[in-house]
Amino acid sequence: MKVEFYKHNLSGENQPDLKAVFNSVFLTSGPVTAKFETAFSRYLGVKRTVGVTSCTAGLFLCLKSSGIGPGDEVIVPAMTFAATANSVLHTGATPVFADIDPDTGLLDLAGAGRKITPHTRAIIPVHLYGQMVDMEAFRAFADSYKLYLIEDAAHCVEGSRNGIKPGQLGDAACFSFYATKNLTCGEGGAVSTNDEKLADNIKILRLHGLNKDAAGRYEHFKHWDMVELGYKYNMNDIQASILLPQMEKIEKYHVKRREVYEQYISKLKELSLPVRRPETAPQTKHAHHLFVIRVDSGIRDRLIEFFQANGVGIAVNYRAVHLNSYYTKHLGTGPGMCPHAEKMGDEVISLPFYPSLETESIDYVISVLSQFFEKEAR
Ligand SMILES: Cc1ncc(COP(=O)(O)O)c(C=O)c1O
Repeated sequence: MKVEFYKHNLSGENQPDLKAVFNSVFLTSGPVTAKFETAFSRYLGVKRTVGVTSCTAGLFLCLKSSGIGPGDEVIVPAMTFAATANSVLHTGATPVFADIDPDTGLLDLAGAGRKITPHTRAIIPVHLYGQMVDMEAFRAFADSYKLYLIEDAAHCVEGSRNGIKPGQLGDAACFSFYATKNLTCGEGGAVSTNDEKLADNIKILRLHGLNKDAAGRYEHFKHWDMVELGYKYNMNDIQASILLPQMEKIEKYHVKRREVYEQYISKLKELSLPVRRPETAPQTKHAHHLFVIRVDSGIRDRLIEFFQANGVGIAVNYRAVHLNSYYTKHLGTGPGMCPHAEKMGDEVISLPFYPSLETESIDYVISVLSQFFEKEAR
């Protein structure tokens, strides 16, 4: 049997929207992008969304818009994808890695507090695997040190904590619509915020710093001006037409993800295997982006091999970022700096997880896991 790590939900049903774009004048950022931005803002309960080409681009534009650059420091968790820290490096600022809470895997505020220096300008918590950090606590922390608070919400569109959703308390939240994300158009991203000025500025920066985009120039030609040195990170109408229909089904798919999650949990409990899971804080609606298990670091890589040999697709999200050779070489980071993230990075395996994952496949994944432990015990 083969169980894919991920399967998207896109199918022919998206074709009418795509067809409409093909039959329209705009392939680039136009009315469909604007429509998606409005729908996404409404879903999150925030004032504005700006569609961009990736979460990485969104994080970078938020940092640039906040005037962050060389000489500045930005606190990021050591347990995340490299993109979080890379977006800081691209501005010329320095990412400063802080450790995580060992139970949830989320950026730990006490650890972040120890990384504050006179150069700290921003903090980027990550809503890891779909679980939000406590945004009220992070807001108070950021305010007390006068930091920009930018949420890396690449894993978390559907989540909330204490009734707060991504983008509502941060200065901005950045989302990913990459190929394996809950909401996807292959590649894409968005920045959502309640700060109108920030949204206006990101809209300008995403397209070369022009004060008018293609749609703004088309109906009635007006000269544009380049008011800032911008970039080329604008979402286009083809991407937006793939995303828009998914907004209507987002909760339906979330329920399915939750059902898959519950099946995994009950089967793991039944067998009482030596497997742990990142904990979920109370008052959390988990977005259920990834289903991650933790096993002893001494057996993790053997288990990866065993899953693969038996046709089960897996991933590792993530090994601690600061141990990547680029960072050790250029920033002098290394083992021992963020011990909880390093331990977690040696223990995690992400299992197949998507709304269409069937009970038969879940049973198979768990039976392979169980066989592995039987083999190890021999
Ligand atoms: C936590 C996290 N942040 C940022 C990103 C970057 O997203 P994108 O590929 O849209 O730039 C990812 C992508 O996987 C991610 O997992």
